[in-house]
Amino acid sequence: RTLRFVAKMSTIDTSKELLNSAKREAARTAVDTYISNGQAVGIGSGSTIVYAVERLAERKKSENLDIVCIPTSFQAQELIINNGLTLTDLDRYPSLDVAIDGADEVDRNFVLIKGGGGCLTQEKIVATAAKTFIVIGDYTKDSSELGDRWKRGVPIEVIPMARIPVAAHIEKKLGGNAELRMAKSKMGPLVTDNGNFILDWKFNGSHDWASVHKFIKLIPGVVETGLFVDMASAVLLGMKDGSVKKI
Ligand code: 5RP
Repeated sequence: RTLRFVAKMSTIDTSKELLNSAKREAARTAVDTYISNGQAVGIGSGSTIVYAVERLAERKKSENLDIVCIPTSFQAQELIINNGLTLTDLDRYPSLDVAIDGADEVDRNFVLIKGGGGCLTQEKIVATAAKTFIVIGDYTKDSSELGDRWKRGVPIEVIPMARIPVAAHIEKKLGGNAELRMAKSKMGPLVTDNGNFILDWKFNGSHDWASVHKFIKLIPGVVETGLFVDMASAVLLGMKDGSVKKI
């Protein structure tokens, strides 16, 4: 019985290791391909971006890479500081050379779902300020249609007092369910870095994502949607075999 347990544990560990190494390869390739001296760089949020920041810190040590970094979340700000990189903001650098960030799902038209970590609004602001927006992730993010892989819906940041009418409006027009995201503790709603709530809209079927984004964005109380349409300059995905696929 013990042996079977050990075997099961090691299967789980291996697949997590595989995912992490896929994220790492994509992140390192993105940093080495797109980042050079003198740039203002937007730093995304999530688990994949951690590897990109680590690579930036390595390059700072080994080749004196001189860049300034603009965060997309409290997590990104801490990552930048803790890795010895230079932290700045959009007040000083309203136009960025490049932004690098993860994604929850990428479809065949380069439409992204983002906001699994609740940071979508600042992520979209920073990505929009960048001349080049590079998306990094592992092979599980590759999808022909949104919703095929990512089952947690489209995150939507809302002003807290608007959460119920916004959810009702979305469900009436587009169907599905717009659910309030709870904090990990389950003691109350997740509160974003901007003091707002997140609705996760679980949708059915396929949609014209540009129209869906516009419709939701115009509902009073909506701050931003996690649909990133026509924004990605390149998507780099780490594969199971250790290669990095650029789409
Ligand atoms: C956070 C995000 C992340 O970039 C997205 O959830 C991907 O995260 P990970 O790199 O952990 O898979 O949008 O709001």
